[in-house]
Amino acid sequence: MSLWGGRFTKLTHAKFKKFNNSLNVDYRLIKDDIKSSIAWSKILIDIQILTDKEQKLIEQTLQWILQQYINDINIILTSDAEDIHSWIETMLINKIGELGKKIYTGRSRNEQIATNLKLWCKRKSKIILKKIIQLQHIFLHQACLHQNTIIPGYTHLQRAQPITFSYWCLAYIEMLERDRLRVLDTIKHLNLSPLGSGAIAGTSWNIDRKKLALLMGFSDCTNNALDSVSDRDFIIDILSAASISMMHLSRFSEDLIFYSSGEVNFIELSDSITSGSSLMPQKKNPDILELIRGKCSGVYGSLCSILILLKGLPLSYNKDFQEDKKYLFQGLDIWEDCLDMSGIVLNNIQLNEVRANKLAQEGYSNATELADYLVRKGISFRDAHHISGNIVVEAIRQNKYIEELDLLVLTKYCKVIEQDVYQFLTLESCLEKKDVIGGVSKRQIKNSLDFIKKRLYCLES
Ligand code: ARG
Repeated sequence: MSLWGGRFTKLTHAKFKKFNNSLNVDYRLIKDDIKSSIAWSKILIDIQILTDKEQKLIEQTLQWILQQYINDINIILTSDAEDIHSWIETMLINKIGELGKKIYTGRSRNEQIATNLKLWCKRKSKIILKKIIQLQHIFLHQACLHQNTIIPGYTHLQRAQPITFSYWCLAYIEMLERDRLRVLDTIKHLNLSPLGSGAIAGTSWNIDRKKLALLMGFSDCTNNALDSVSDRDFIIDILSAASISMMHLSRFSEDLIFYSSGEVNFIELSDSITSGSSLMPQKKNPDILELIRGKCSGVYGSLCSILILLKGLPLSYNKDFQEDKKYLFQGLDIWEDCLDMSGIVLNNIQLNEVRANKLAQEGYSNATELADYLVRKGISFRDAHHISGNIVVEAIRQNKYIEELDLLVLTKYCKVIEQDVYQFLTLESCLEKKDVIGGVSKRQIKNSLDFIKKRLYCLES
């Protein structure tokens, strides 16, 4: 029988029952429902609904129910209960009889689901935080290994200026750090407990909501019951954080797909993370990266779906909310998976340093250095830019690098050029000149590495 059977004289239509049930999705809230139910049972002592002894029995039985689920998940999946709340209540009543029927005193599923969702998000956010930090560690490891590995830096996918692989890794560590801070921000909003809000207007029982909040590990309780039972902003928050972070992982994937392509080819992905073609024997495909890039769409889909779901809903609880879990779970599961997968990729790449160096050398990526050299000799930057551009055209004509051109040729374009120009044109000089905070020089990279090592160390201790 359903929880609300008393008011109804006809049986529920079988198809509607199936349509209405959410257990096959919300069973994942079992730990959170048990946690909030135990806290609620403790509050029922304060209002003399339960004795200490009765509460203990309810608590033990709830723990037992959780254990049954852990032992065999099918116990839940084969049930025809409407949702996780009714499944737990039925299990409780089946095990301890009449006493079990008291657990819902003063409590509505509306506040319960909002509470459970926040508890679930808190748990998942902590897992995600760990995964972000793990991935930062893996980037850091690569960044330490490759401080001297020069690669071409791109804009518009054209070689722009030389950088190091270490520097590229540091860029992703920054993105991940913003992702981490965004998760911490969402946790702040997750820390207010909706429980004690009743169905929409608060409960008629004189309970201490702050105490109840602390019992579940929240830092305080929410203010307005009408808002509390219909607030799902925290799902939007966490899915927004997920979407931005997935965008970072997708760009990371795209970079590596490009770097490992036949044309660029300065990174090789290990056989263990690539797959072949069923037809073309020579192929080694970066499926893992394409999947990270592709799965990003599932997270964006989740974010868009939740925004559309909530838009225009009247206050307060509406059954539409039941759909929120599907999107929340999908979005965060994908995010967690892709954080893991990105780390696996990074641990399984091989850099071809000679090839990377050659590509950095080839792209006339020292043309800006030449312009800066001319500026140092008194030419205005706009003119210097023009002269350097002309010299690039000359070098292309002669099929040479700029630094391979004769001094006589160079002076044809600008009289101030002297023998010392060549030392400005080496890749090493291009890097070392960028010695401002955030620049690519060895000293700056070392500073960044030291800073990040300290930050990660602090996070762990
Ligand atoms: N399964 C429901 C949900 O996910 C639980 C809350 C039900 N509340 C109600 N008034 N029908 O939203």
